[in-house]
Amino acid sequence: MADQTLPQGPSRRSFLNWFLGTTAGAFLFSVLYPVSRYLIPPEVGESTAATVTLQIKPDEIRPNTGQIFKFANRPAILVRTPAGELRAFSAVCTHLNCTVQYRPDVSHIWCACHNGHFDLTGKNVEGPPPRPLDAYVVNARGSQIVVSRSA
Ligand code: FES
Repeated sequence: MADQTLPQGPSRRSFLNWFLGTTAGAFLFSVLYPVSRYLIPPEVGESTAATVTLQIKPDEIRPNTGQIFKFANRPAILVRTPAGELRAFSAVCTHLNCTVQYRPDVSHIWCACHNGHFDLTGKNVEGPPPRPLDAYVVNARGSQIVVSRSA
C-alpha cells in the first residue's frame, strides 16, 4: 500500500504563488514608486523671507554698478546709481522672466533676452517689458545692507 500522506510544510504551488506574488508586487512597486515621486513633487520649503542681509558692505559698491543677489529664492538686483544711491529691484524681467543686469554705459537695468530697458526707478522705458520691476527697500545699516519688501 502506497503512502498517501501530504508533504510537510509549504507545497510547491504555494511557494510559487508566494514567489510570483512578491515578485510582481516588487516589480509594480519599483515602477510605480518612481512614477509617483515624479508626478507628485516633494514639498519644497520655498523661502518667502521678507528681508535679507547682504554679504556686501555698502562702501564696496562703486557708483554706476549693479549686482545680482538672491531674495526669497528669486534673483534681485542691487544698484548703486551714478549719484551714489542704493536701490534694489526684482531681477526678473516683467516680459518673459529673464534675469536682468546692470548696463553702466546707459545707466539702465537691461534685459538681454529682448533688449528690454528699465530706468533706475525700475520703470520699463524701452523694449517689450510691459510693466516696471518690483522695487525693494534698501537700508544701509553700518557695514550691512538690508533689503526688504516694500510695505
Ligand atoms: S524677457 Fe526681458 S525683454 Fe523679454
